[in-house]
Amino acid sequence: MTQPSASPYGTLPAAPAPASRKPISLPRLREMHAQGEKITMLTAYDATFAAVADAAGVECILVGDSLGMVCQGLSSTVGVTLEAMRHHTECVARGLRRAQATAWLIGDLPFGSYHESKEQALRSAAVLMQAGAHMVKLEGGGWTTETVHFLVERGIPVCAHLGLTPQTVHALGGYRVQGKTGEAAATLKAQAHALQDAGAAMLVLEMVPAALSAALTTELGHCPTIGIGAGVGTAGQVLVLHDMLGMNLGRMPKFVHNFMSEAHSVQGAMQAYVRAVKEGRFPVDATHAW
Ligand code: KIV
Repeated sequence: MTQPSASPYGTLPAAPAPASRKPISLPRLREMHAQGEKITMLTAYDATFAAVADAAGVECILVGDSLGMVCQGLSSTVGVTLEAMRHHTECVARGLRRAQATAWLIGDLPFGSYHESKEQALRSAAVLMQAGAHMVKLEGGGWTTETVHFLVERGIPVCAHLGLTPQTVHALGGYRVQGKTGEAAATLKAQAHALQDAGAAMLVLEMVPAALSAALTTELGHCPTIGIGAGVGTAGQVLVLHDMLGMNLGRMPKFVHNFMSEAHSVQGAMQAYVRAVKEGRFPVDATHAW
């Protein structure tokens, strides 16, 4: 159990034992959202970390294409292949199964694996679902709406991703906050509504102003928003595992908190993250307001 400390993330009761938690399913995520319970998500890329995150009470595990940076040493997610995503999704799914875990598993569709056609997206999504994912995530709005609808109609739950979309970092001119102008905010809102209408069951909002993501969270209603660098007003939060454990090899994004700095174990750091999100204590820093 985590030891008491003076930090706002440090004095924490233990997370509920996995046995007392309900398996996470789409209806359960919708129920949590309707009841105003914050949804927690962390990335994981292997069996052990995924099982530890589940034991810490994290509801959603994302096998993110951020694995390109944190596992493969790439400078962006653009070089990540579908085969790499399949391999890591399978590793995580196996770890969760062995641990009799309850977490909801999301597989990230990598760059180039869904851009060509809806049919290509379906083939790529099937690879990740057959590797053990319960849901796939894809980046972007506008042209992706039709693809989301196509996948959802075929029984594949989809998480959309707007704001800073790392696969298009070169087109965006870097890892910058998105939706800052009135026009950009209106476009982002319109895309989010279209994605919800197309059947997206979750929406990651990355690096958007806190006021915009909070407004969108209220407006959307039934599609929970999961923020990363998007303020505290989203329906849930996600962080890259290595970032929240203070193991970032490059520049640590401003919105990240190193939960390991007050914890005595990886599971303790994850429990601290879960508690901080559930209680609306993370994110708190003014930098999250952009
Ligand atoms: O790949 C990833 O880890 C992600 C999260 C940052 C949301 O997409």
